[in-house]
Amino acid sequence: MEEDIVRNQWNNVAQCYSSEQRESINNITNRTIIKELAGSVENLRLLDAGCGDGYLSSIFRDLGANVYAFDGSENFINLAKNEFKNINYQVCDIKKDLPFDDKFFDIIVSSLVLMDIDNIEPFFKEANRILNDDGKLIFSIVHPCYFQAEWEFDENGNKYKKKIYNYWDCNSEILNIWGETTHFHRPITYYSKIIKKYGFVIEELKENPDNKEVFDKMKPHQKRLPLFLCFSLRKINNT
Ligand SMILES: C[S@@+](CC[C@H](N)C(=O)[O-])C[C@H]1O[C@@H](n2cnc3c(N)ncnc32)[C@H](O)[C@@H]1O
Repeated sequence: MEEDIVRNQWNNVAQCYSSEQRESINNITNRTIIKELAGSVENLRLLDAGCGDGYLSSIFRDLGANVYAFDGSENFINLAKNEFKNINYQVCDIKKDLPFDDKFFDIIVSSLVLMDIDNIEPFFKEANRILNDDGKLIFSIVHPCYFQAEWEFDENGNKYKKKIYNYWDCNSEILNIWGETTHFHRPITYYSKIIKKYGFVIEELKENPDNKEVFDKMKPHQKRLPLFLCFSLRKINNT
C-alpha cells in the first residue's frame, strides 16, 4: 500500500482521534491491559511504537521509564511534543529500519497500531534487533475474531451478539470512525507465526483488564465480547 496514503490518512484524523480516544472507555480498557502486561517499568528504556498523541508514552514516563516514542504521522508527533515533555520523539515508519542501536530497549509497547499496517514483518524483525536479550514486546490490536463482525441487536435496540464470517481471510477495509483509515485483518494464527519466526514467545494474552474498576465501567456488550487482544512477548533468541 502507498505509504503516503496511510500517512495522510493518519495525519488527517490525528486531532479528532486524540480528542475522542483519550477518555473513551475503549481506550482506557486497552491502556489498562497494556499497563498490566508491562508491570513495573521504573528505570527501563521503553519504546512506544506508533505512539499517536503520546498519551500512553506519558503514562509510562510518569511510571519512571525512560521513554522513546515514534509515529509515522507528523501531526500526531506534533500533538505529542506540544503536550508531553521529557520523551524522545521521532517521526518514522514502522515498516522501515528503525533509528535505534542493537539491544537498546528493555521493553517495546505498541498500542493499536499493527492492525493498521499492511506488512508487519519488518517491525518484528527490528523489534528483535533493538530489544535486549530477554526484552519484552507488548502489543495490542482490535480483536481479530470480533472486530469485523456485525452486531445483532436485542428487542430494546442494544448490541447483543455478533455475526462472524470470513475469519481466515487476510483482508483490508477502509474504516470511517475519525475520518478514513485502513484496517488490515489477520487471523491470530498469522500473528503467532510471525512471533515465532522473529524469535519471540508469547508469555501472556489478555482480552480484558484485571482492574475491576475499569472492567465495571465497560459497556455490557464489551463485557460479553472483547474488543481488544493484547500480546505480551519475550525475546528468546536473536534473528
Ligand atoms: C489507532 S492509532 C493508535 C495510536 C496510539 N498508539 C494509541 O494507542 O492511541 C494508530 C497509530 O499508528 C500510526 N501509524 C500508522 N501507520 C504507521 C506507520 N507506517 N509507521 C508508524 N506509525 C504508523 C498512526 O499514525 C497512529 O498514530
